[in-house]
Amino acid sequence: MQTVDIDLAERSYSVYIGSGILGNAHPAFEIAPGSTALIVSNETIAPLYLDKLCKSLAGANVHSLILPDGETYKNVGHWTQIIDKLIDIRATRDATIFTLGGGVIGDMGGFAAASYMRGIDFIQIPTSLLAQVDASVGGKTGFNHPHGKNLIGAFHQPRAVLVDIDTLETLPEREFSAGLSEVVKIAAIRDAEILAWLEDNSAAIMARVPDVVTSMIKRSIANKATVVAEEEREAGVRALLNFGHSFAHALETLTDYHQYLHGEAVSIGMMVATRLSEIRGLCDTGFSGRLGALLQSYNLPLDLPAELDSDDIL
Ligand SMILES: NC(=O)c1ccc[n+]([C@@H]2O[C@H](COP(=O)([O-])OP(=O)(O)OC[C@H]3O[C@@H](n4cnc5c(N)ncnc54)[C@H](O)[C@@H]3O)[C@@H](O)[C@H]2O)c1
Ligand SMILES: [Zn+2]
Repeated sequence: MQTVDIDLAERSYSVYIGSGILGNAHPAFEIAPGSTALIVSNETIAPLYLDKLCKSLAGANVHSLILPDGETYKNVGHWTQIIDKLIDIRATRDATIFTLGGGVIGDMGGFAAASYMRGIDFIQIPTSLLAQVDASVGGKTGFNHPHGKNLIGAFHQPRAVLVDIDTLETLPEREFSAGLSEVVKIAAIRDAEILAWLEDNSAAIMARVPDVVTSMIKRSIANKATVVAEEEREAGVRALLNFGHSFAHALETLTDYHQYLHGEAVSIGMMVATRLSEIRGLCDTGFSGRLGALLQSYNLPLDLPAELDSDDIL
């Protein structure tokens, strides 16, 4: 098992990455005997992994809440369901929420933890690649408002993040590729060495070779963690994590969030931002070709759909 420490003073915690974590006695599962654990998951992931997690938490007073699957359910109604459940099981301030799922479950469960009784502990168990390398690190929690994504939320750091790479075995190919888009983003903004490594190892990555995937996730988290920690001292560094996201958000909005997964929109967004930077002389000429080849090797789209109007995008 590999570990990345997230250095945030008294809110520091560790991310554990490896195989077989869910079914094993991990220190993060050792919550006080008889204390309350609420597992929040969704209809797709619970049938696959909930039993395993429940067994690992034996000894605690374990409850679960299974929400419907999808970004459209990341809203006030489903956040309220989590709060209702906590009240229903008489959870007190020493209860812990375990979020078992992708970024949707992590963000919403994390915000329930941030807000219930002014804040209780939570442990992230991200199961999508995107959540493992991006959403589960940094402490951003929340849900969507009809007027915009993630408009309601809070910063609330988890007590630990457990990345069991075995869960990737059931992740659909398209979702896996979408996660790789954020992996490329994190490399492109600050780590030339890993960018080259991602190029050299693309076949092994696409084949999900466990050791290769573990190294990739560890390095991505370490990079994001450094940016998140620097932000506490240096305002604005975190904006680097938005590489490609301005164009991606325009694309997602104009296609009503139906046509592209977030990572796919980010892939196109990074290409547009890079081509623009080349034209303006802000990055090396030819970098868009290199970036495009890498994204393409991960089956990610590169180009804006022809039917979109550039004025609408602007
Ligand atoms: N907090 C942050 O810093 C941050 C960063 C990036 C994204 N996000 C948020 O994360 C969300 C996107 O995350 P996501 O891409 O994980 O979406 P998601 O949670 O909707 O998961 C994607 C799909 O994969 C399924 N899935 C997940 N793990 C699986 C597994 N192991 N096996 C089979 N199916 C599995 C899910 O059920 C879902 O259908 C967005 O809401 C976004 O706003 C948050
Ligand atoms: Zn993103």
